[in-house]
Amino acid sequence: MKTIKVLIVTIMCILLVSSPEIMAQTEKKPVSKGKTSHSETTKPKTSSQTVASDLKGAKEGIWGEWMKPVGKLEFYTLPYPYDALEPAIDKMTVEIHYERHHRGYFDKMQKAVSGTDAAEKNLLEIFSNMDKFPDAVRNNSGGFFNHALYWDNLTPKKQEPSRQMIELIEKSFGNYDSFVKKFDEAAANRFGSGWAWLAVDIKSGELFITSTANQDNPLMSIAERRGIPLLALDVWEHAYYLKYQNKRTDYINSFWSVVNWPVVEARYNQFKSIMEKVK
Ligand SMILES: [Fe+2]
Repeated sequence: MKTIKVLIVTIMCILLVSSPEIMAQTEKKPVSKGKTSHSETTKPKTSSQTVASDLKGAKEGIWGEWMKPVGKLEFYTLPYPYDALEPAIDKMTVEIHYERHHRGYFDKMQKAVSGTDAAEKNLLEIFSNMDKFPDAVRNNSGGFFNHALYWDNLTPKKQEPSRQMIELIEKSFGNYDSFVKKFDEAAANRFGSGWAWLAVDIKSGELFITSTANQDNPLMSIAERRGIPLLALDVWEHAYYLKYQNKRTDYINSFWSVVNWPVVEARYNQFKSIMEKVK
């Protein structure tokens, strides 16, 4: 009987020591000198970690990608088929726009930075010091980046702005209709080629609407008003001419049916981490 009792106690001891769960519960984490276990758990994420984690559910990595040196960037992958935005934006326009225009900016950007310091900089660093780089870098890095934003803020699935976005819009523009009207005017009145933007002001955090010429964007140090882009609309003729010819206003009206509001909101939610990179 005594032998059986000893055997049972021995087996229980072996189980206790070898159980990972029990080990985890009883293990005490070492606390280094000058630190507490609390400070370890509240350690802030790096900007790139925040960027990557915040975008899950929207277009993952959209901002994180721009932290890579330009020379190491790969061409953007369109997140939907060419015909996905029909009828707002036709298949042939998307295909030519993406495969020829957007790819062209990427290739020319790589050619422009090749063998220069710019190849080692990320896009946000380049945009923040735009006047220090030649026009070929400005036009083609802007062209590559702006189109990636544009494709990402479009979607085949009809989306509505969330309550948070509506409230932000109302705070800055009074109401949603006023916002759309102002954005439409910025897009329609851009003389020649360029972009319309909804952006968040780098200093005040307010939403604002602006337009830029050619391939400039609000992140650039040369921009009239600097901000983090939330929503981009390409108003170059190559973005709409096949379907709408000279009727830019019709293209702008159709644009609202394919806006990807969750992406716009995800960009807003992480603007503070981006802001630190573009000062
Ligand atoms: Fe374009």
